Amino acid sequence: MAASGEVSSGQFRTVPLPESQLDFPGEPYSVSVLKVGYCRALTEDTFKADGSITLIQGPTTILVDTGGPWDRDFLLKSLKDRGLEPGDVNLVVGTHGHSDHIGNLGLFPAAKLIVGWDISEGDTYCPSGLAEGHAYCVDEHISVVPCPGHTGQDVSVQVAGTFAGTLLVAGDLFECCSDEDSWRALSMNAEKQEVSRREALRTADVIVPGHGPPFRVTRR
Ligand SMILES: [Fe+2]
Repeated sequence: MAASGEVSSGQFRTVPLPESQLDFPGEPYSVSVLKVGYCRALTEDTFKADGSITLIQGPTTILVDTGGPWDRDFLLKSLKDRGLEPGDVNLVVGTHGHSDHIGNLGLFPAAKLIVGWDISEGDTYCPSGLAEGHAYCVDEHISVVPCPGHTGQDVSVQVAGTFAGTLLVAGDLFECCSDEDSWRALSMNAEKQEVSRREALRTADVIVPGHGPPFRVTRR
């Protein structure tokens, strides 16, 4: 039986990391979780939620999810604390179109945007193979991977070469480390999401979920 907080699913096990571990150095890309997303029930059908916000720094500066509109000042300050202005961000990825993930796209009008399966620069929309199941490669270390299920057009961002291994910024493909009881109720297509989750667990060493701290994946 898995220890508390761990989830064992066939050949994969998800293991919580220390809550303070939000920085994942690497070469050439390092990853920092600027904000840990959360989801807390207030009543039976009301909850407070915000999406994780993640910065990837290396040859390209990438922000994955921007939190909700209420995160505007937090996001600006977090970037400034790292010596960055919004104009320094080259690529903003919205893992899916929910308001707690893409509430601050307007801070980044000059960045390339990937939101779900749409890729745009300014008002120019570019072809993408995401809808056909193909990853969009930023370079040899970073790829944006389609992972539908939570919505119809989710993407994750895979970062190879961190010192913790391959890291996946997964949006709401995973709610949190121990989400086996909750993710299906939030899924538009649980069958597709199950396939996407299995692929993520097969390939990632660390996952940044949409509404909880990063966790590690171990394989038998
Ligand atoms: Fe969502």
